Amino acid sequence: MIHTDNRIFARIAGTGSYLPQQILTNEDLVKRGVDTSDEWIVSRTGIRQRHIAAAGELTSDLGYQAALRALEAAGVSADEIDLIVVGTTTPDLIFPSTATIIQRKLGVAGCPAFDVNAACSGFVYALTVADKFIRSGASRTALVIGAETLTRMLDWNDRNTCVLFGDGAGAVVLKADDSTGILSTHMHADGGKKDLLWNPVGVSAGFKPDEPNAGVRVMMAGNDVFKYAVKALDAVVDEALVANGLDKTALDWLVPHQANLRIIEATAKRLDMSMERVIITVDKHGNTSSGSVPLALDEAVRSGKVQRGQLILLEAFGGGFAWGSALIRY
Ligand code: COA
Repeated sequence: MIHTDNRIFARIAGTGSYLPQQILTNEDLVKRGVDTSDEWIVSRTGIRQRHIAAAGELTSDLGYQAALRALEAAGVSADEIDLIVVGTTTPDLIFPSTATIIQRKLGVAGCPAFDVNAACSGFVYALTVADKFIRSGASRTALVIGAETLTRMLDWNDRNTCVLFGDGAGAVVLKADDSTGILSTHMHADGGKKDLLWNPVGVSAGFKPDEPNAGVRVMMAGNDVFKYAVKALDAVVDEALVANGLDKTALDWLVPHQANLRIIEATAKRLDMSMERVIITVDKHGNTSSGSVPLALDEAVRSGKVQRGQLILLEAFGGGFAWGSALIRY
C-alpha cells in the first residue's frame, strides 16, 4: 500500500543487529553426521556457516542486544520508544509476547508491545505495522525487531532443512520525519500453500509427543517453495516500484531476505541489478528468518555501503506463504 498522505514518514534513525557467538560451518554439520557436503550446500544455497544460540540464550536476548545497538545508533533512549513490534516465529514463550519480554529487559513500560508472526517475512510485516502507526500519528518513535532462534525447531536428521537455517536478530528505530523515510510497503499471503513450509505442531492443533522430534520440526518442500518464492518476489519488487512511479534504475540497493543465494540472484536479475548492489549475508548467517533482513540492513549500514539519501528495497518471503517488500529512502 502506498501512502497518500505524505506529511509524516517513518525514517530509519538507527539500525542494530546481534549474532550468537557459536558458529556452525558446513563441515561441522558433516562432522555431526548430517548426510551432506560443503559443496552441495554452497552450490545449492550459498550458505557456508550459520550462528547458533547458546543454551539458555533466547530469542528475546538476541532481539534485546540488537535493539540496544539500534537505539545507540539512533541516539534514542529506551524511554523515548512509544511502540515495540517484534517479528518472530520462535517466541521465547507462547505468551507473553517476545516484544513485552524485550520491553522489560529495556527497563521501560507503558508503550504498546506485541509480536507479528509472518515466518521469514516477520520483519517486513512488523516494519509495515510500525510504519502505519507512525504515518497515522499514533506513534513517533518505534522499535522494530526481527529475532529468531530457528535452529531450536530443526530436525538435525533432516538434511533438507537443517542445513538452511541459523539464529540471529536485527532491529531498527523508526522516527517520525516530515521529509523522508519509508515510501511504501507491500504485504501478501497465500494460506493455501501452508503444507509446503510449516511446523505442524502447536497449542490448538496439539503437540504430538509420540512422533520423533515432535514440536521442533520445520517441514519443507524445498523445490516448490523455491519456485513460488521467485515468482512472488518478482511481483512484489515490481509492485513497490510501480506504486512509487519509479524505474528499477532508481534503486541503489537491494536488501533481500537471506534464504538462498539463487533466489536472491533471480530477484537481482529481475531488477537488472549487478550483485555488487545486493547485500549478501546468507553465506555467513544462513536463513535467520525474521532476523535476516534487518541483519543484512545493519551490516550494509555499518560497512558504509548504504548511505543516507539512497533508495533501498527490502523484500522477504516465508511460510504461510507470506511475503512483502518495503521501499525506503534511507
Ligand atoms: N545435502 C545433500 N543432498 C541433499 C541435501 C543436503 N543438505 N538436501 C537435499 N538433498 C538431496 C535430496 O535428497 C535430493 O536427492 P534425490 O535426488 O536423490 O532425491 C537432491 O538433493 C535434490 O533435492 P532438491 O530438493 O530437488 O534440491 P534443490 O535443488 O531444490 O535444492 C533447496 C534444495 C532446499 C536448497 C532448494 O529447494 C531451496 O533452497 N528451496 C527454497 C527453500 C527456502 O528458501 N526456504 C525458506 C524460505 S523462507
